[in-house]
Parts: sequence; structure tokens; C-alpha cells
Amino acid sequence: MSHSLEVESWNRRRSGFYNRNNGLLRMKTFYIETFGCQMNVHDSEKVMGTLLRRGYRQVDSPESADLVLYNTCSIRDKAEQKVFNRLQQFKKTGNGKVFGVLGCVAQQEGERIFERAPHVGMVVGSASYHKLPDLLGQLETGNRRVTGLELDTDETFETPFARRDNPHRAYITIIEGCDKSCAYCVVPFTRGPERSRGSGGILREARDLAETGYTEIQLLGQNVNSYRDPSPAGWDFATLLRNVACVPGMRRVRFTTSHPRDFVKEIIDAIEDVPALCNHVHLPVQSGSSRMLGRMQRLYTRDEYMRRIEWMKRASRDIAITTDIIVGFPGETEEDFEQTLQLLDEIEYDSLFSFKYSPRPNTPALRLEGQIAEEEKGRRLTILQEKQRAIQIRRNAGYVGTVEEVHIEGYNKALQQWIGRTSQNKTLNFYDAPNDGSKEDLLGRYLPVRVTRAGPNSLVGERVQ
Ligand code: 5AD
Ligand code: SF4
Repeated sequence: MSHSLEVESWNRRRSGFYNRNNGLLRMKTFYIETFGCQMNVHDSEKVMGTLLRRGYRQVDSPESADLVLYNTCSIRDKAEQKVFNRLQQFKKTGNGKVFGVLGCVAQQEGERIFERAPHVGMVVGSASYHKLPDLLGQLETGNRRVTGLELDTDETFETPFARRDNPHRAYITIIEGCDKSCAYCVVPFTRGPERSRGSGGILREARDLAETGYTEIQLLGQNVNSYRDPSPAGWDFATLLRNVACVPGMRRVRFTTSHPRDFVKEIIDAIEDVPALCNHVHLPVQSGSSRMLGRMQRLYTRDEYMRRIEWMKRASRDIAITTDIIVGFPGETEEDFEQTLQLLDEIEYDSLFSFKYSPRPNTPALRLEGQIAEEEKGRRLTILQEKQRAIQIRRNAGYVGTVEEVHIEGYNKALQQWIGRTSQNKTLNFYDAPNDGSKEDLLGRYLPVRVTRAGPNSLVGERVQ
């Protein structure tokens, strides 16, 4: 091959042209839609960075994209169906586009996706994202179907090119995968074994983010507090928290999601000692009944969970506590459910996410007896949510009159309110002095706000001058 031909072919590949069916197909634009958790949101940011780096351009509709990616979630059946609905829409009109399924549904369904949706060209689970450049290369050079489905990896997906979408809060993945085996959960099958990143790389990323102007960071992991530094420093999670929170310029550090089993007192001690660590812990309980926790293979009892709650309640800082709850897990009796309701009264969570149990492929709970009718799950969910709503109204009312520091994330023109968030992760919207000049100036700033009104899901206040 002559030199100029070589250069031309290299340029073509670099700029994302590829040869398919003997014709040159432009493959320069991509569209990505993300479902599921914050891990997925941040994975997508890294995928976007990888594509932009390769010369692709992002567009905001699937119709105008050459490569259409769905980063999927399979935690509940409803989430899983979303991607198949999307793919269905393009079954006839998607000619010429390449469709890619990423994330948890990709890992779970694997090559079966090609059968259900023959127009899909790429299926990649999150444990294989480090291979994305290679897989994209294969697509660009004409491979019709590429897959990345290996789970037994010790690699994490790190890229210096993440394209961060949220200008106020930056995510950093510190641990991927999950070594637990909760009976209802697909995650161990979709995200592979736990892999922690070295603390040096995490700190470097936090410092870089601070230098580019980020003041708030959220550390991510399916079981974020199971973090174990693989580098010689050997930090545990609490030590990592303290160090990230001391990065110059960092005002707020959050973390999610914690598993109660690995939630040690040192984490609360760190929050008490270091002001930049936020007053908020998300600690999914799933059920208030020890019998159900056993069936769910959660590895703690109600009493053990309560001990962790007591550490937080006794702390000098007013730590907001939030949780996840599943109703209607197989075998849940009326009495088990009652115990969950009592737990809500006892703890008074600041907020919670609640779900009807959804049977998932491969999970041990599929084989459990005592599956509960959808109607009954719905009834329990409504009762639980009504109770929690009353608790939130009561708790939030307690903030009226207090002054909270908010991080300003936006402006709601219709309501003429600034949108702020407290350290406790509560939304506190506020009015500014009527003739304060430039509104844009407040975005990203931290200001004291006096709470004047409270609803179940947010607070309203006035800026303290
Ligand atoms: N059905 C219902 N909810 C589930 N969750 C996880 N798996 C299931 C399932 N099969 C919930 C748990 C978890 C949250 C992210 O989703 O509460 O903490
Ligand atoms: Fe959904 Fe769980 Fe996968 Fe996140 S890890 S995308 S919540 S299935």
C-alpha cells in the first residue's frame, strides 16, 4: 500500500468512516440514551468521552444519528422493557444506522438481543467498556455484529475523557461490580465482581475536577463502602473519604450507594470531622423484618441495621438518612410488612425509594415460594408511600425558620425561584432580592437561605442577605 493510501485509510478510520456492504457509510454522529442508576449515568459520560475522542459528534435525536446507543438497566422488568420498546420503534426505519445496547440488559440478555432486535450491531456489558475503542474499531471496519460480554474481569473502565453532563456535580466511580448476592438482584450478574480503583488515581481525578471548577463530587459504586484500595496505600473507604474531602476547592463530597453490612462507624466519624463530607447517608434497608432480610440474603438483621442508624442519629451533625425498600418480596406476610411500616416510624427517613418486587432472571428469589400477587404488592406500596409522605411533611416542617447553605444548581423562570440543594441533598428553592442584577452569577455558588415553607419533597426559602 502506498504511503498516501495508508494515510487516507487511517484518516478514514480515525474520522469514523467505515466500509460496509461495499459502500462507504458515514459513521460520525452518535446519540445516547441512559436508563437506570447514577453508575450508568456516569458510565455514559465515559462512553461519550470515548466516542468524542474518536472523532464522533453527539446529536440529540436518534433520527439524526449514525450510531444509536442505549445504556440500559435491568433492575426491574419495567426498566428492561424500555430498551426493547425503543428498539422496536426503529425496527423498520433504522436502516443504515448502527444500534448498540450497552449496560445491564446487554450483559443479561447477551446475543439473544440480536434475535429479538436483528438491527442491533453492538451488545456490550459494563464490565467490557474498557474494550470499547477496540469494539468501535471493529464496527468501523465493517463488522456487522460485535459483542463485549465477559464478566470475569479485573479491569475498571477509566478514561481521562469523560464528558461530564452535570456542571455542578461530578461523579467519580471508585468501585465497580458487586460481590454480594441479594436474592432479588441482577447486579452481580450484570456488573461482575467487585473491582476497586487505586486511591492515587481517584485523588488525581478529584484534584483535576477541582481545578476545572467543580466544587461537588459524588463517589460512586454499587457497594461504595466496600471500597478497598488495591494500591500499597491500602486505604479503606473512610480514609478515602477524608482524603477526597480535603482536596483544595472541594466544598461537598457525597457517596452512594452504601451497603449496611459494610457500613462501619469510621464513616460517620469522618462525616463528623470533615465539613466537606455531606450530611447525608443513603442506606438501603429493603425490609424492616429480619425474617425477610434473611430470605433476601442481605447479611444483616434489623437490629444490626438499627445500630448504624443510631450512630447517625447520635452524631453532632444533622445527617439526613434515605433508603430503598422492596415490598412484596416472596413470602412477605402482613406482619413482615407491618414491621417495615414500624421501621419507617422509628427512623423517620428524610426520603425513600420504594419498589414492588420484580422477579429477575438468574436470581435466587425466582425459586422462592410465596410469590405475591401484583395487586397486593400495589396495595402495600401505596400504604408505605402514604406513610412516608406524612413523615416527610412532618420532618421537613421542622426546617422552617432554619438557615441552610445551598449549592445553586439552576433557575426556575416560571416560579422565579433559584433551585438549590442542601448538604442533606434536600431541594431548597429560594427567592432572591427582587432587583438583584445578573441572575446567571448565582449558578454554582453557595449561599445561606432561610427556610420559609416546607412540602413533602422540597423546601422553599429566602436568601439571607
Ligand atoms: N425488584 C424490585 N426492586 C429491586 N431493587 C433491586 N432489585 C429489585 C427487584 N428485583 C431495588 C432495591 C435496590 C434498588 C436500587 O432497587 O431496593 O436498592
Ligand atoms: Fe440498573 Fe442496577 Fe444496572 Fe444500575 S447496576 S443500571 S440500577 S441494573
